[in-house]
Amino acid sequence: MSTRPKAQPLLELKNLRRSFGGTKAVNGVSLTVYKGEILGIIGRSGAGKSTLIRCINGLEKPDSGSIFYKSRDSAGLTLEESRQMRRRIAMIFQQFNLLSSRTIIDNVALPLKLAGMSKIARRQKAAELLQTVGLGGKEQHYPAFLSGGQKQRVGIARALAAGPDILLSDEASSALDPETTQAILQLLREINRKMGVTIILITHEMEVIRAIADRLIVLDKGKIVEQGAVKDIFARPQAAATRALLQTIIPSLPPALAAQLRPQGHEAVIEFHLSGAAANTPFLQDLQRDTGAIARIIHGGMDTIQGERQGRFFLALNAGDKAKLAQALAWLAAKGDKSEVLGYV
Ligand SMILES: Nc1ncnc2c1ncn2[C@@H]1O[C@H](COP(=O)(O)OP(=O)(O)OP(=O)(O)O)[C@@H](O)[C@H]1O
Ligand SMILES: [Mg+2]
Repeated sequence: MSTRPKAQPLLELKNLRRSFGGTKAVNGVSLTVYKGEILGIIGRSGAGKSTLIRCINGLEKPDSGSIFYKSRDSAGLTLEESRQMRRRIAMIFQQFNLLSSRTIIDNVALPLKLAGMSKIARRQKAAELLQTVGLGGKEQHYPAFLSGGQKQRVGIARALAAGPDILLSDEASSALDPETTQAILQLLREINRKMGVTIILITHEMEVIRAIADRLIVLDKGKIVEQGAVKDIFARPQAAATRALLQTIIPSLPPALAAQLRPQGHEAVIEFHLSGAAANTPFLQDLQRDTGAIARIIHGGMDTIQGERQGRFFLALNAGDKAKLAQALAWLAAKGDKSEVLGYV
């Protein structure tokens, strides 16, 4: 797990707004990005994620609000300081944005050339970066001859060339197959851990967040509707937008079982979530010991998110009578993050 020292703000957005005609794409966003973290930003299509990130890297000008970088208001910077800041914030793209007429080493060396580095120094640096991203030996290849995953590695090497503090990624893995996505995420994790680069990751895919993000921000209609540690939000999502997005990774009752649910029956079917210390207990036995109710698992299982155990189960619970059922439900409610009667069988 992360052994980060005391969280230190690197980037702070204050009440940022950006509209397009009547569309309030970013509608009053304030947030802090801490040094060394991987911050995930999720939200439905059109929530304002790309606009927000484009405001951070200067591709988009906010209508109002402020951006503080290392505690300095970006509005007060000179042109040169502003350019310096821009260089400290690098970006990788879904479409890779490589120059097809240049070899991959030239693609990576280009930002170094623009920064005024000598030819020998920049080729050496670019070769090192290609090594870092796992493309050593392919320096003279052209982008067209690389797979999607390799192209993204070149994109990452190029982004790292200027020695950024922050790496912005807007759906950088969404054009890739699941296996390649995992490899790219692993690489980003390594860059974060070994080079100390702070990463802001925009994605539609909860699997991506689950795999590498430390903290999560949920945007909806241009506003932040939820933020916190990934494991806390995954265990207890609050906002409707968060719940909707998390549907893809939270198991639901299989249709065949759902079809058997009745308004009355011997057993109550309960959706039960638990996390943290509670998830490491023999909770079905404890339930029986404390309340006499016998429950069996009909669906679901355990998961580990950021090192925390989280369980999501569908239980069929036989409590005997109504009073005992109420007692068992109270027990589950106290123990878990969620316990909801879906029906009876
Ligand atoms: N250049 C633009 N001109 C007009 N409208 C824009 C522009 N850029 C974004 N928008 C609008 O602003 C809103 C937010 O768009 P944005 O691209 O930031 O969303 P997003 O969260 O990145 O969505 P997606 O997940 O589909 O990439 C949308 O309604 C979009 O249509
Ligand atoms: Mg977008």
